[in-house]
Amino acid sequence: MDKDQKKVIIAIDGPSGAGKGTVAHYLANKFNLKILDTGLLYRVVAKMALQQKLGSDQLEKLIEITRNVTVEDVTQEGLRSEKVAAMASKIAIIPAIRTILNQVQRDFAVSDPGDHLGVILDGRDIGTVIYPDADCKIYLTADQEIRALRRMKQESNVCQLEIHQMMAERDKRDSSRTTAPLNAAKDAYIIDTTHLTIDEACKKAAYYVQNSCLPSAMTV
Ligand code: DC
Repeated sequence: MDKDQKKVIIAIDGPSGAGKGTVAHYLANKFNLKILDTGLLYRVVAKMALQQKLGSDQLEKLIEITRNVTVEDVTQEGLRSEKVAAMASKIAIIPAIRTILNQVQRDFAVSDPGDHLGVILDGRDIGTVIYPDADCKIYLTADQEIRALRRMKQESNVCQLEIHQMMAERDKRDSSRTTAPLNAAKDAYIIDTTHLTIDEACKKAAYYVQNSCLPSAMTV
């Protein structure tokens, strides 16, 4: 990146199964952005808590685990299961854990992008809490039924009803928690992916990024 060029920061939020991950990776490739899936940070803590047989009420031990989490940890295996996701959602309610992980996310957002044009973070509260000054905020959503179907295709050993129930619980917890609940920022572009193909959702998001924060000179 040219040293005088402003680095771009893109925020993507929304519930699980709305297509955030796919869209974020598409945008990262298209616009040469460094990417962080922030849900994985919560999943790292959740996975370790499950391994150590901790409950979501064992605050001190959970905080100790969280203090050692770095962005490098998100590449580890075993983070994608619904079991880890459910625990991550319970852990994400705890303000002290959020405070620690918020700092990890903000440090990533302002880190040197190297050869990249900027960064893209996907999560639940990027545009509202982590980086409200992001250059472009996108909120992806979709009907719960469709989101459950999409998750089911990824998790072949769990039945649709089970996924549906787990997702409904998770949505409720993520949206109703007191600290940083799942919400679209007022100035976010909302994309409802219920009736969109992956390709259509990606192209729509790319259009918003291109037009809101990338001058034509930076078009990739
Ligand atoms: O995006 P995901 O399914 O990997 O996220 C797992 C959980 O982590 C999710 O249920 C809520 C929590 N989370 C959060 O509270 N804030 C974020 N920025 C990202 C995830």
